[in-house]
Amino acid sequence: MAHVIAVAGKGGVGKTTLCGMLIQYLCEKGKGPILAVDADANSNLNEVLGVKVETTLGDVREEIARAELAKENPIPTGMSKADYAEMRFEDALVEDDDFDLLVMGRTQGKGCYCYVNGLLQTQLAKYQNNYPYIVVDNEAGMEHISRGVLPSMQTAILVSDCSRRGVQAVGRIAELIKECDMHPDTVGLIINRAPKGELNKGIQEEIANQGLTLLGVVPQDETVYEYDCEGRPTSTLPEDNPVKTALRAIVDNLKL
Ligand SMILES: Nc1ncnc2c1ncn2[C@@H]1O[C@H](COP(=O)(O)OP(=O)(O)OP(=O)(O)O)[C@@H](O)[C@H]1O
Ligand SMILES: [Mg+2]
Repeated sequence: MAHVIAVAGKGGVGKTTLCGMLIQYLCEKGKGPILAVDADANSNLNEVLGVKVETTLGDVREEIARAELAKENPIPTGMSKADYAEMRFEDALVEDDDFDLLVMGRTQGKGCYCYVNGLLQTQLAKYQNNYPYIVVDNEAGMEHISRGVLPSMQTAILVSDCSRRGVQAVGRIAELIKECDMHPDTVGLIINRAPKGELNKGIQEEIANQGLTLLGVVPQDETVYEYDCEGRPTSTLPEDNPVKTALRAIVDNLKL
């Protein structure tokens, strides 16, 4: 069974950037194949990984949910809706050398998605046998995990910037994990974009207030930001990039 690692935190703190580096590092360590899942409605994990996405699971869910209503039903005669959905879900899997990427995407929300979400859940459960690691880039609410579409995680990596509000947001996510009975083995915090890679006193206090376990601190780095602005995948950053180095040390300590 796959070890599921979920990355979450409030908006814009660097979840996707760190998630991409985590996936790349696990691949380099020979832990692949990795299933990378972009579970953020505003998906962009593919950009940091440098891969193109044609179809999202949201597109497929929409297509299946609407199939019965449509004049031109896309499902070939003689094929069951479940088999068609499975085929289309597999089309949505982007394959790279050491990892595959699935993008949850979004749906318009009209119509009923219970049936198709059930099919998707079955499909994702199958993938758990195919990959040693599944890494999920989430939004703060971890919608797909808390609703059971994605499997629950063994490791939760919660990311915050160097602000009290960021750390408080992580505190709420840690509460949500408890409330939803997710029971991961590890729940830890990464402080990202720390000036000079240092934690200030106030943030240290807030981490203690929230009862969070600090996994490590990742520095603010202009090169990472420039890559993002220029649309270059952060997976192509130099080996000695300080953000990469810091993240790798954190991952090594997690003993995944
Ligand atoms: N350590 C860092 N140093 C400098 N810039 C960083 C660092 N980490 C992330 N960034 C930049 O911060 C911005 C937001 O990062 P990212 O998209 O990874 O955050 P996110 O938490 O996934 O955001 P969202 O909530 O929108 O999904 C990007 O421009 C990224 O390049
Ligand atoms: Mg993101």
